[in-house]
Amino acid sequence: MRTAAPGCPVCRHVNFCYLPPVPPKKKIAVIPGDGIGKEVIPQAVKVLEASGAALDLTYFDWGADRYLKDGTTVPADGFAMLGRDFDAILVGAFGDPRVSSNVHAKEILLGMRFKMDLYANVRPVRLLDPSLCPLKGIEPKDVDFVVFRENTEGVYTDAGGVFKQGTADEVAIQEDINTRKGVERIIRYAYEYCAHNKKVDGSPRSRVLMCDKSNAMTHAGSLWQRAFKTVGAEYPQIKSDHMYVDALCMQLVRDPRAFDVIVTNNMFGDIITDVAAALQGGLGMAASGNIHPAKTSMFEPVHGSAPPLAGKNIANPMGAMLTSAMMLAHLGFSDAAQKIEAAVLDAVRQKKTTQDVGGTLGTKEVTEWIAKKLGS
Ligand SMILES: NC(=O)c1ccc[n+]([C@@H]2O[C@H](COP(=O)([O-])OP(=O)(O)OC[C@H]3O[C@@H](n4cnc5c(N)ncnc54)[C@H](O)[C@@H]3O)[C@@H](O)[C@H]2O)c1
Repeated sequence: MRTAAPGCPVCRHVNFCYLPPVPPKKKIAVIPGDGIGKEVIPQAVKVLEASGAALDLTYFDWGADRYLKDGTTVPADGFAMLGRDFDAILVGAFGDPRVSSNVHAKEILLGMRFKMDLYANVRPVRLLDPSLCPLKGIEPKDVDFVVFRENTEGVYTDAGGVFKQGTADEVAIQEDINTRKGVERIIRYAYEYCAHNKKVDGSPRSRVLMCDKSNAMTHAGSLWQRAFKTVGAEYPQIKSDHMYVDALCMQLVRDPRAFDVIVTNNMFGDIITDVAAALQGGLGMAASGNIHPAKTSMFEPVHGSAPPLAGKNIANPMGAMLTSAMMLAHLGFSDAAQKIEAAVLDAVRQKKTTQDVGGTLGTKEVTEWIAKKLGS
């Protein structure tokens, strides 16, 4: 029972409120970042607000402007604060031509993924309408798979170094870090997802495909192969498959129907999901989550800050909106998430879109249409 003194403003009872308890709002940290991130995130927030989900948003100015102003990339205790005080984080994108080293982007984005241990980069690949796919004869039911990219290891850890830099004898070493723990947990996360989730048409998910380059990268490849075999044996009802990354890229554009759940390392996942984004209508349509199932997770559109598009009201906000829907579903607001997805789908079908996906509207006008749809 909710107590209120001197009286509940809703039910007007003097001492107590007899309405059902109101669940606390979910606390969201919003970090728009740079370039088009600063444009698409406010649009995603309008849609979140129109969805009716109970959220309490706090904005952070982390990004190139802040870095250029006072040298801060991430304030002291920043990641601990995000993990402690928030239920989820909504991020735009980082990258600004004024910061040629990209140091702020690395420290904020990779810092969040690594230091908050957000080990599962989950990237759903779903075609909303045939008009968005560059392949002939492909229907929405043909493109409905999810890529699970290991998010805390691989070549992105920046392990390595240079020797005799700037000379003719220069050596550069970029290490590929793969731990048994890291590999096993992302593979298990992919199997768990496959076991408990359905495709958009309601049919069960049934196949996990591990993608590597174990024929050439034998040490890391052997670890991935052995971990895949061990974890796969725990899920006998799920078909386990394997492809080399080069063959997989070819198959993605030859016939995307072949895919259901893909699990792979950090770099291959990065590359595969840009190819896969093209199947959905481009980077402006692709959503992602950076997830640790027991910790505060972060959600961001797959695209970057696209500096040439920034400030022109032409960036597609749908990837950011679908990302917000992913975040809502993760937080337990599945009705609100489905409402946003349905409104975006409607906008695509009615061509209420930006130019990159065949429409004529601006970023803000697309949002107005979708927010109105959600309110109706
Ligand atoms: N997660 C991130 O923050 C992230 C991811 C990728 C790139 N980046 C950074 O972003 C900057 C630009 O990188 P890039 O050009 O390689 O990748 P990008 O994703 O920013 O843009 C590539 C191209 O995709 C298209 N595009 C992307 N998002 C779009 C949208 N919402 N609407 C319409 N078209 C869209 C545009 O044609 C754009 O030129 C770099 O600084 C890079 O490091 C950041």
